[in-house]
Amino acid sequence: MLTEIQLRNFRCFESLRVDFGPGYNFFIGQNGQGKTSILEAVCVLLRLQSQRSSTLAPLVRIGHSTFALAGRCHEHALEFRYGPLRRKLVFDHVEQPAPKEYLRLARVVSLANTDIELVRGSSEARRRFLDFLGSQIERSYRLTLRAYERALRSRNALLKSPQPKPRELAAYDSPLLEHGAKLSALRARLVEHLRPFAADAHREISGSVECLEMKYAPGNEEDFATDLARSRPQELRLRQTIVGPHRDDITLQVDEMAANQYASEGQQRTVALALKIAQARVFAAEEGAPPLLMVDDIFGELDPQRRNRLFSSLPREAQKLVTATSLAWHKGELSGCISEFIDGTLRTK
Ligand SMILES: Nc1ncnc2c1ncn2[C@@H]1O[C@H](COP(=O)(O)OP(=O)(O)OP(=O)(O)O)[C@@H](O)[C@H]1O
Ligand SMILES: [Mg+2]
Repeated sequence: MLTEIQLRNFRCFESLRVDFGPGYNFFIGQNGQGKTSILEAVCVLLRLQSQRSSTLAPLVRIGHSTFALAGRCHEHALEFRYGPLRRKLVFDHVEQPAPKEYLRLARVVSLANTDIELVRGSSEARRRFLDFLGSQIERSYRLTLRAYERALRSRNALLKSPQPKPRELAAYDSPLLEHGAKLSALRARLVEHLRPFAADAHREISGSVECLEMKYAPGNEEDFATDLARSRPQELRLRQTIVGPHRDDITLQVDEMAANQYASEGQQRTVALALKIAQARVFAAEEGAPPLLMVDDIFGELDPQRRNRLFSSLPREAQKLVTATSLAWHKGELSGCISEFIDGTLRTK
Protein backbone atom coordinates (compact mmCIF):
# COMPACT_ATOMS: atom_id res chain seq x y z
CA MET A 1 0.00 0.00 0.00
CA LEU A 2 1.07 3.52 -0.78
CA THR A 3 0.92 5.57 2.43
CA GLU A 4 2.44 8.91 1.51
CA ILE A 5 3.78 11.04 -1.32
CA GLN A 6 5.59 14.38 -1.39
CA LEU A 7 5.79 16.52 -4.52
CA ARG A 8 8.21 19.32 -5.27
CA ASN A 9 7.91 21.52 -8.38
CA PHE A 10 5.64 18.97 -9.98
CA ARG A 11 2.98 20.32 -12.43
CA CYS A 12 1.05 23.09 -10.60
CA PHE A 13 2.46 22.20 -7.16
CA GLU A 14 5.43 23.91 -5.61
CA SER A 15 5.23 21.62 -2.64
CA LEU A 16 2.56 19.17 -1.51
CA ARG A 17 2.28 16.22 0.81
CA VAL A 18 -0.55 13.69 0.55
CA ASP A 19 -1.30 10.78 2.90
CA PHE A 20 -3.24 7.76 1.68
CA GLY A 21 -5.35 5.15 3.42
CA PRO A 22 -6.24 1.62 2.35
CA GLY A 23 -9.26 1.11 0.07
CA TYR A 24 -10.77 4.26 -1.43
CA ASN A 25 -9.03 7.65 -1.40
CA PHE A 26 -11.09 10.43 -2.99
CA PHE A 27 -9.68 13.70 -4.34
CA ILE A 28 -12.38 16.26 -4.95
CA GLY A 29 -11.93 19.65 -6.56
CA GLN A 30 -12.92 21.91 -9.40
CA ASN A 31 -11.26 21.76 -12.80
CA GLY A 32 -7.58 22.63 -12.91
CA GLN A 33 -6.90 22.23 -9.19
CA GLY A 34 -4.36 19.44 -9.61
CA LYS A 35 -6.35 16.22 -9.05
CA THR A 36 -4.96 14.41 -12.09
CA SER A 37 -1.50 15.76 -11.25
CA ILE A 38 -1.62 13.99 -7.87
CA LEU A 39 -2.42 10.69 -9.60
CA GLU A 40 0.29 11.39 -12.13
CA ALA A 41 2.82 12.00 -9.35
CA VAL A 42 1.89 8.63 -7.85
CA CYS A 43 2.25 6.93 -11.24
CA VAL A 44 5.64 8.53 -11.88
CA LEU A 45 6.94 7.77 -8.38
CA LEU A 46 5.93 4.11 -8.59
CA ARG A 47 6.43 3.38 -12.31
CA LEU A 48 8.73 6.17 -13.57
CA GLN A 49 6.22 7.01 -16.28
CA SER A 50 3.15 9.16 -16.57
CA GLN A 51 -0.29 7.80 -17.37
CA ARG A 52 -1.05 10.83 -19.55
CA SER A 53 2.22 12.05 -21.01
CA SER A 54 4.76 10.05 -22.99
CA THR A 55 7.62 12.23 -21.75
CA LEU A 56 8.36 13.60 -18.29
CA ALA A 57 9.52 17.08 -19.33
CA PRO A 58 6.03 18.71 -19.18
CA LEU A 59 5.66 17.54 -15.59
CA VAL A 60 8.32 19.97 -14.34
CA ARG A 61 6.66 23.05 -12.85
CA ILE A 62 6.90 25.91 -15.30
CA GLY A 63 9.82 28.18 -14.46
CA HIS A 64 11.82 25.33 -12.86
CA SER A 65 14.18 22.75 -14.29
CA THR A 66 13.65 19.72 -12.04
CA PHE A 67 10.95 18.01 -10.03
CA ALA A 68 11.27 15.68 -7.06
CA LEU A 69 8.93 13.01 -5.71
CA ALA A 70 9.28 10.97 -2.55
CA GLY A 71 6.98 8.52 -0.84
CA ARG A 72 6.42 5.33 1.07
CA CYS A 73 4.97 2.17 -0.43
CA HIS A 74 4.82 -1.31 1.12
CA GLU A 75 6.99 0.06 3.94
CA HIS A 76 9.75 1.08 1.54
CA ALA A 77 11.01 4.58 0.90
CA LEU A 78 11.10 5.72 -2.72
CA GLU A 79 12.55 8.88 -4.20
CA PHE A 80 12.69 10.06 -7.80
CA ARG A 81 14.29 13.24 -9.04
CA TYR A 82 13.97 14.31 -12.64
CA GLY A 83 15.97 16.88 -14.56
CA PRO A 84 16.67 17.32 -18.26
CA LEU A 85 20.16 15.87 -17.88
CA ARG A 86 19.83 13.50 -14.99
CA ARG A 87 17.38 11.21 -13.23
CA LYS A 88 18.01 9.98 -9.74
CA LEU A 89 16.39 6.91 -8.21
CA VAL A 90 16.63 6.17 -4.52
CA PHE A 91 15.26 2.99 -2.95
CA ASP A 92 15.35 2.76 0.84
CA HIS A 93 17.84 5.65 0.93
CA VAL A 94 20.26 3.94 -1.47
CA GLU A 95 20.75 5.46 -4.91
CA GLN A 96 19.98 2.95 -7.66
CA PRO A 97 22.13 2.74 -10.78
CA ALA A 98 19.29 0.96 -12.66
CA PRO A 99 15.51 0.86 -12.15
CA LYS A 100 15.29 -2.93 -11.79
CA GLU A 101 14.89 -3.17 -7.99
CA TYR A 102 12.95 0.06 -7.74
CA LEU A 103 10.32 -1.01 -10.27
CA ARG A 104 9.74 -4.33 -8.54
CA LEU A 105 7.80 -2.65 -5.76
CA ALA A 106 4.45 -1.59 -7.19
CA ARG A 107 2.00 -1.96 -10.08
CA VAL A 108 -0.41 0.71 -11.29
CA VAL A 109 -3.50 0.71 -13.47
CA SER A 110 -5.02 3.99 -14.54
CA LEU A 111 -8.64 4.43 -15.58
CA ALA A 112 -9.52 7.80 -17.07
CA ASN A 113 -12.12 9.48 -19.21
CA THR A 114 -9.54 9.80 -21.96
CA ASP A 115 -9.35 6.00 -22.17
CA ILE A 116 -11.98 6.16 -24.89
CA GLU A 117 -9.00 6.92 -27.14
CA LEU A 118 -8.10 3.26 -26.70
CA VAL A 119 -11.10 2.45 -28.83
CA ARG A 120 -11.43 5.30 -31.27
CA GLY A 121 -7.95 6.80 -31.28
CA SER A 122 -4.91 5.76 -33.29
CA SER A 123 -3.07 2.47 -32.82
CA GLU A 124 -0.45 4.31 -30.74
CA ALA A 125 -2.88 4.43 -27.80
CA ARG A 126 -3.38 0.67 -27.98
CA ARG A 127 0.35 -0.03 -28.21
CA ARG A 128 0.91 2.20 -25.17
CA PHE A 129 -1.79 0.24 -23.33
CA LEU A 130 0.01 -3.05 -24.04
CA ASP A 131 3.44 -1.63 -23.27
CA PHE A 132 2.29 -0.07 -19.97
CA LEU A 133 1.08 -3.50 -18.86
CA GLY A 134 3.85 -5.60 -20.41
CA SER A 135 6.64 -3.47 -18.95
CA GLN A 136 5.18 -3.86 -15.48
CA ILE A 137 4.80 -7.62 -15.68
CA GLU A 138 8.02 -8.65 -17.36
CA ARG A 139 11.38 -7.00 -17.21
CA SER A 140 12.26 -8.58 -20.57
CA TYR A 141 9.29 -6.74 -22.12
CA ARG A 142 10.69 -3.35 -21.14
CA LEU A 143 14.19 -4.26 -22.30
CA THR A 144 12.95 -5.68 -25.62
CA LEU A 145 10.77 -2.64 -26.25
CA ARG A 146 13.71 -0.28 -25.59
CA ALA A 147 16.02 -2.34 -27.82
CA TYR A 148 13.47 -2.35 -30.65
CA GLU A 149 12.87 1.40 -30.35
CA ARG A 150 16.62 2.02 -30.47
CA ALA A 151 17.03 -0.19 -33.57
CA LEU A 152 14.10 1.56 -35.24
CA ARG A 153 15.42 5.05 -34.45
CA SER A 154 18.85 4.25 -35.92
CA ARG A 155 17.36 2.68 -39.03
CA ASN A 156 15.00 5.62 -39.58
CA ALA A 157 17.89 8.06 -39.11
CA LEU A 158 19.78 6.24 -41.85
CA LEU A 159 16.74 6.27 -44.14
CA LYS A 160 16.53 10.03 -43.66
CA SER A 161 20.19 10.57 -44.59
CA PRO A 162 20.81 11.94 -48.13
CA GLN A 163 21.70 8.66 -49.84
CA PRO A 164 21.31 5.56 -47.71
CA LYS A 165 23.39 2.68 -49.10
CA PRO A 166 21.68 -0.72 -49.36
CA ARG A 167 24.58 -2.41 -47.57
CA GLU A 168 24.41 0.01 -44.64
CA LEU A 169 20.67 -0.45 -44.41
CA ALA A 170 21.05 -4.23 -44.36
CA ALA A 171 23.30 -3.88 -41.29
CA TYR A 172 20.45 -2.14 -39.47
CA ASP A 173 17.95 -4.83 -40.46
CA SER A 174 19.19 -7.56 -38.18
CA PRO A 175 18.71 -5.81 -34.77
CA LEU A 176 15.32 -4.58 -35.97
CA LEU A 177 14.29 -8.11 -36.97
CA GLU A 178 15.70 -9.70 -33.84
CA HIS A 179 14.09 -7.38 -31.28
CA GLY A 180 10.98 -6.94 -33.43
CA ALA A 181 10.28 -10.68 -33.48
CA LYS A 182 10.69 -10.85 -29.70
CA LEU A 183 8.42 -7.86 -29.13
CA SER A 184 5.73 -9.29 -31.43
CA ALA A 185 5.78 -12.59 -29.56
CA LEU A 186 5.52 -10.80 -26.19
CA ARG A 187 2.63 -8.63 -27.36
CA ALA A 188 0.77 -11.54 -28.95
CA ARG A 189 1.03 -13.47 -25.69
CA LEU A 190 -0.11 -10.46 -23.68
CA VAL A 191 -3.21 -9.98 -25.84
CA GLU A 192 -4.07 -13.69 -25.44
CA HIS A 193 -3.71 -13.25 -21.70
CA LEU A 194 -5.93 -10.15 -21.61
CA ARG A 195 -8.61 -11.53 -23.93
CA PRO A 196 -10.76 -13.61 -21.54
CA PHE A 197 -10.43 -11.02 -18.74
CA ALA A 198 -11.54 -8.23 -21.08
CA ALA A 199 -14.52 -10.22 -22.35
CA ASP A 200 -15.64 -11.01 -18.77
CA ALA A 201 -15.20 -7.42 -17.54
CA HIS A 202 -17.08 -6.15 -20.58
CA ARG A 203 -20.04 -8.44 -19.89
CA GLU A 204 -20.07 -7.37 -16.24
CA ILE A 205 -20.02 -3.63 -16.83
CA SER A 206 -22.34 -3.54 -19.81
CA GLY A 207 -24.67 -5.92 -17.98
CA SER A 208 -25.46 -7.39 -21.36
CA VAL A 209 -24.72 -10.36 -23.52
CA GLU A 210 -22.62 -8.27 -25.88
CA CYS A 211 -19.39 -9.99 -26.67
CA LEU A 212 -16.05 -8.17 -26.76
CA GLU A 213 -13.38 -9.79 -28.88
CA MET A 214 -9.82 -8.50 -29.00
CA LYS A 215 -7.11 -9.65 -31.36
CA TYR A 216 -3.46 -8.81 -31.84
CA ALA A 217 -2.89 -7.27 -35.29
CA PRO A 218 0.85 -7.34 -36.01
CA GLY A 219 2.44 -4.45 -37.88
CA ASN A 220 4.21 -6.84 -40.20
CA GLU A 221 3.49 -10.05 -42.11
CA GLU A 222 4.32 -13.31 -40.41
CA ASP A 223 7.74 -13.46 -42.06
CA PHE A 224 9.09 -10.09 -40.86
CA ALA A 225 12.35 -10.38 -42.86
CA THR A 226 10.57 -10.93 -46.18
CA ASP A 227 8.07 -8.21 -45.39
CA LEU A 228 10.87 -5.77 -44.56
CA ALA A 229 12.74 -6.62 -47.79
CA ARG A 230 9.53 -6.23 -49.80
CA SER A 231 8.84 -2.81 -48.32
CA ARG A 232 12.33 -1.48 -49.19
CA PRO A 233 11.39 0.60 -52.28
CA GLN A 234 8.51 2.23 -50.43
CA GLU A 235 10.54 2.95 -47.30
CA LEU A 236 13.29 4.57 -49.39
CA ARG A 237 10.63 6.79 -50.89
CA LEU A 238 8.97 7.61 -47.55
CA ARG A 239 12.31 7.66 -45.68
CA GLN A 240 11.08 5.58 -42.78
CA THR A 241 10.60 1.98 -41.73
CA ILE A 242 7.03 1.12 -42.62
CA VAL A 243 6.57 -2.42 -41.33
CA GLY A 244 7.22 -3.81 -37.87
CA PRO A 245 5.90 -3.78 -34.31
CA HIS A 246 5.84 0.04 -34.25
CA ARG A 247 2.76 -0.44 -36.47
CA ASP A 248 1.17 -3.10 -34.23
CA ASP A 249 -2.46 -2.77 -33.26
CA ILE A 250 -5.24 -4.53 -31.39
CA THR A 251 -8.55 -4.99 -33.18
CA LEU A 252 -11.58 -4.61 -30.94
CA GLN A 253 -14.97 -5.96 -31.92
CA VAL A 254 -18.29 -5.87 -30.12
CA ASP A 255 -20.58 -8.60 -31.42
CA GLU A 256 -18.34 -8.98 -34.47
CA MET A 257 -18.55 -5.28 -35.37
CA ALA A 258 -15.48 -3.04 -35.26
CA ALA A 259 -15.81 -1.06 -32.02
CA ASN A 260 -14.19 2.09 -33.45
CA GLN A 261 -16.65 2.26 -36.36
CA TYR A 262 -19.92 0.90 -35.08
CA ALA A 263 -20.06 1.08 -31.28
CA SER A 264 -21.93 3.97 -29.64
CA GLU A 265 -20.02 6.36 -27.39
CA GLY A 266 -21.33 4.60 -24.28
CA GLN A 267 -20.35 1.23 -25.72
CA GLN A 268 -16.90 2.55 -26.57
CA ARG A 269 -16.44 3.79 -22.99
CA THR A 270 -17.50 0.38 -21.72
CA VAL A 271 -14.94 -1.34 -23.96
CA ALA A 272 -12.21 1.01 -22.69
CA LEU A 273 -13.16 0.33 -19.06
CA ALA A 274 -13.19 -3.40 -19.73
CA LEU A 275 -9.67 -3.21 -21.16
CA LYS A 276 -8.42 -1.41 -18.07
CA ILE A 277 -10.16 -3.77 -15.66
CA ALA A 278 -8.67 -6.66 -17.62
CA GLN A 279 -5.29 -5.04 -17.07
CA ALA A 280 -5.90 -4.99 -13.30
CA ARG A 281 -7.01 -8.62 -13.33
CA VAL A 282 -3.97 -9.74 -15.30
CA PHE A 283 -1.80 -8.14 -12.60
CA ALA A 284 -3.79 -9.83 -9.85
CA ALA A 285 -3.40 -13.18 -11.65
CA GLU A 286 0.30 -12.71 -12.42
CA GLU A 287 1.45 -11.14 -9.20
CA GLY A 288 -1.01 -12.53 -6.69
CA ALA A 289 -1.93 -9.00 -5.60
CA PRO A 290 -4.05 -6.32 -7.26
CA PRO A 291 -2.39 -3.15 -8.56
CA LEU A 292 -2.93 0.32 -7.21
CA LEU A 293 -5.90 1.70 -9.14
CA MET A 294 -6.14 5.32 -10.25
CA VAL A 295 -9.65 6.28 -11.32
CA ASP A 296 -9.60 9.74 -12.84
CA ASP A 297 -12.88 11.57 -13.35
CA ILE A 298 -14.94 8.54 -14.31
CA PHE A 299 -17.46 7.79 -11.59
CA GLY A 300 -19.33 11.07 -11.82
CA GLU A 301 -19.81 10.57 -15.55
CA LEU A 302 -21.41 7.15 -15.39
CA ASP A 303 -25.08 6.42 -14.85
CA PRO A 304 -25.76 4.88 -11.39
CA GLN A 305 -26.21 1.40 -12.80
CA ARG A 306 -22.90 1.38 -14.64
CA ARG A 307 -21.22 3.02 -11.65
CA ASN A 308 -22.34 0.19 -9.39
CA ARG A 309 -21.24 -2.40 -11.89
CA LEU A 310 -17.87 -0.71 -12.21
CA PHE A 311 -17.53 -0.61 -8.42
CA SER A 312 -18.13 -4.31 -8.15
CA SER A 313 -15.75 -5.04 -11.04
CA LEU A 314 -12.78 -3.33 -9.38
CA PRO A 315 -10.62 -5.67 -7.30
CA ARG A 316 -11.96 -5.34 -3.77
CA GLU A 317 -8.63 -5.44 -1.95
CA ALA A 318 -6.96 -2.89 -4.24
CA GLN A 319 -5.99 0.53 -2.98
CA LYS A 320 -7.90 3.06 -5.09
CA LEU A 321 -7.26 6.73 -5.77
CA VAL A 322 -10.35 8.36 -7.23
CA THR A 323 -10.77 11.92 -8.49
CA ALA A 324 -14.02 13.77 -9.12
CA THR A 325 -15.20 17.35 -9.41
CA SER A 326 -17.88 16.66 -6.84
CA LEU A 327 -19.20 13.84 -4.70
CA ALA A 328 -22.83 14.78 -5.36
CA TRP A 329 -23.34 11.34 -6.93
CA HIS A 330 -21.98 9.64 -3.84
CA LYS A 331 -25.22 9.12 -1.84
CA GLY A 332 -23.49 7.41 1.05
CA GLU A 333 -22.54 4.38 -0.99
CA LEU A 334 -18.81 4.72 -0.32
CA SER A 335 -16.40 4.75 2.54
CA GLY A 336 -12.83 5.93 2.38
CA CYS A 337 -10.54 8.86 2.86
CA ILE A 338 -11.85 12.10 1.30
CA SER A 339 -9.56 15.04 0.45
CA GLU A 340 -10.89 18.21 -1.07
CA PHE A 341 -9.32 21.27 -2.67
CA ILE A 342 -10.68 24.27 -0.78
CA ASP A 343 -9.38 27.72 -1.81
CA GLY A 344 -6.50 26.04 -3.63
CA THR A 345 -5.41 23.97 -0.62
CA LEU A 346 -5.89 20.23 -0.31
CA ARG A 347 -7.63 19.37 2.96
CA THR A 348 -8.32 15.87 4.19
CA LYS A 349 -11.61 15.37 6.03
N1 LIG B 1 4.30 21.96 -15.84
C1 LIG B 1 3.35 22.72 -15.26
N2 LIG B 1 3.69 23.79 -14.53
C2 LIG B 1 2.75 24.54 -13.91
N3 LIG B 1 1.43 24.28 -14.00
C3 LIG B 1 1.03 23.23 -14.72
C4 LIG B 1 1.97 22.38 -15.40
N4 LIG B 1 1.29 21.42 -16.04
C5 LIG B 1 -0.01 21.64 -15.79
N5 LIG B 1 -0.17 22.73 -15.00
C6 LIG B 1 -1.43 23.26 -14.45
O1 LIG B 1 -1.84 22.38 -13.45
C7 LIG B 1 -3.21 22.56 -13.21
C8 LIG B 1 -3.81 21.28 -12.71
O2 LIG B 1 -3.93 20.33 -13.74
P1 LIG B 1 -4.68 18.92 -13.50
O3 LIG B 1 -4.80 18.29 -14.81
O4 LIG B 1 -4.01 18.18 -12.42
O5 LIG B 1 -6.10 19.43 -12.96
P2 LIG B 1 -7.39 18.62 -12.54
O6 LIG B 1 -7.72 19.00 -11.13
O7 LIG B 1 -7.22 17.18 -12.82
O8 LIG B 1 -8.50 19.26 -13.48
P3 LIG B 1 -9.74 18.60 -14.27
O9 LIG B 1 -10.85 18.48 -13.29
O10 LIG B 1 -10.05 19.61 -15.31
O11 LIG B 1 -9.30 17.31 -14.84
C9 LIG B 1 -3.77 23.09 -14.51
O12 LIG B 1 -4.36 24.33 -14.24
C10 LIG B 1 -2.59 23.24 -15.42
O13 LIG B 1 -2.61 24.45 -16.13
MG1 LIG C 1 -8.09 15.93 -14.24
